[in-house]
Amino acid sequence: MPLRYIGNKTRLLPFLLAGIEELGIVGTVACDPFAGTASVGRALKLRGWRVHSGDVMALSHAFQVARVVLDRTPTYPARLLGQNSRGVSQRRLLDALGAIPPVHGFISEHYSPAGKASRVHGRMYFTPENAGRIDAIRERIASWSREGKIRPGPAQLLLAVLIQAADRVANTTGVYASFVKSWQPNAMRPLELRPLRPAVPPGPQARGCTAHLGPATETLARAGTLDLVYLDPPYNERQYPGYYHIPELLARGWEPEPELRGKTGLIPDEELRSDWCRRGRCEQALRDVLSQADARHVLLSYNDEGLLAAERIEEIFRQHGDPDSYRRLSRGYRRYRSDADGPERRYSGDRVRESLHYVRLS
Ligand SMILES: C[S@@+](CC[C@H](N)C(=O)[O-])C[C@H]1O[C@@H](n2cnc3c(N)ncnc32)[C@H](O)[C@@H]1O
Repeated sequence: MPLRYIGNKTRLLPFLLAGIEELGIVGTVACDPFAGTASVGRALKLRGWRVHSGDVMALSHAFQVARVVLDRTPTYPARLLGQNSRGVSQRRLLDALGAIPPVHGFISEHYSPAGKASRVHGRMYFTPENAGRIDAIRERIASWSREGKIRPGPAQLLLAVLIQAADRVANTTGVYASFVKSWQPNAMRPLELRPLRPAVPPGPQARGCTAHLGPATETLARAGTLDLVYLDPPYNERQYPGYYHIPELLARGWEPEPELRGKTGLIPDEELRSDWCRRGRCEQALRDVLSQADARHVLLSYNDEGLLAAERIEEIFRQHGDPDSYRRLSRGYRRYRSDADGPERRYSGDRVRESLHYVRLS
């Protein structure tokens, strides 16, 4: 799993891919407009689909570019390391980035005990050493990009590598809505940059994948005519920016410096808040994406405990597509848990059901 991410479909991929087969969905162009970690887009690309993906979160954009858009592992200019050879591998570049001495930057100041601002709130997201290394690496990637020394795609891949590395040493229990008040073993480990491998297209039709930073309706409008739209929106009231504000900062950078809020240092997120997480608005959000989609097949992954009842989704799907084509495939799996859920959160059990709703649109 590239990042501990709520709703990540890595474990459900076999179910999803079997569903696509069972439903007889074939074609060449797909859209994944709620891409998250881009696990689904990547799996589709590896099966020969050209994938247009999108998400409102910049952290997702980094993963989409790294895992879906790039067709091969980039080689980086040797002059980045002050060398004259033709190019350096990702591995060598990551070794060099990993060896940069720590600096006191934004992450140190606001999310580790090394910072005055952080100490006021007792924030312990990263040890001072790891925070300083994250700052140094983030600053170096930003300066290479500013000076035009690396192209946007390979730069996004480096950001995705850094987000993953930071996530492995974050002093959280899986999401950033809170930090643990004593150092956990993972947080004490040194930050380690591990290479990310882009998905090599199995054929020419899988080239030309794209990533869009913005709402699903915009991604769909840009994507044009599609064979398959795969929808994986949030299904409850948990807004992603509040749970992943630090990875989001690593992806977006901090120029101009955002005004942070509260004990956990949340970022301004008005534009990132999703209607899918609002009881009164999620139904219209579904209607909007279905109206925008110019596609033959639509698949929606949705949790059976979500804001929209399965029967309501069925009704809406039948209204927007061929009513007789509607199908629902379901499967139980172990619930994603994090301590941020808290002991007071009431669950009906350790297992939940995820449904795949299908309709043929045209
Ligand atoms: C369930 S997650 C997707 C998980 C993804 N399939 C994976 O495997 O990692 C839902 C995603 O929808 C994004 N999102 C929420 N509202 C959105 C909107 N209106 N348009 C696009 N993306 C949105 C969130 O940022 C989040 O990444």
